[in-house]
Amino acid sequence: MEKEKIVAILEAARFAPSGHNDQPWKFVLVRNKETLGRLALASDDQNFVAEADSVICCCATTTNYLLQNEIQGYSLDLATSIAFMMLQATDLELGSCWIGAFNETKVKKLLRIPDQVKVISLLTVGYAHYVPPPTARKEMSEVVAAENYNEPCQWG
Ligand SMILES: Cc1cc2nc3c(=O)[nH]c(=O)nc-3n(C[C@H](O)[C@H](O)[C@H](O)COP(=O)(O)O)c2cc1C
Repeated sequence: MEKEKIVAILEAARFAPSGHNDQPWKFVLVRNKETLGRLALASDDQNFVAEADSVICCCATTTNYLLQNEIQGYSLDLATSIAFMMLQATDLELGSCWIGAFNETKVKKLLRIPDQVKVISLLTVGYAHYVPPPTARKEMSEVVAAENYNEPCQWG
């Protein structure tokens, strides 16, 4: 994959919004084939991880900030940056997959990630071998309410 495309994807993460503009993240770009293979083993043997052009290991550098509603800020910040990368990848006609099933201890050891850092996700990126059929989604009326929680939205 072209370097400019990887840079564009990483820039999408760098420019993502975060609570207090803390930017509590660090992204480890992995392209070495042997390391990709080891990441696949650390990810429940999901073989396509080894076959990806690149894997971006998405880390939270600070994990101690709670929003007023007691939701942990770092998971929202990281999820936002990951979603931005996925949208950028799609815009560049690349495939990407959010990998949540991985052994954090193994990934941290492999990529020499410090103890206090939390690995949120591995993101595979590359040219897709094929485009899978779209997956199902709940109906709009099931997931959108109008004016109050109990009133289904009639639009869509
Ligand atoms: C938090 C999270 C964890 C995920 N973990 C994995 C994973 O480990 N392996 C995988 O193949 N897909 C994983 N996915 C992708 C979802 O399975 C996928 O987005 C969902 O099935 C909908 O499919 P679609 O995105 O192709 O529409 C994950 C997605 C999210 C948001």
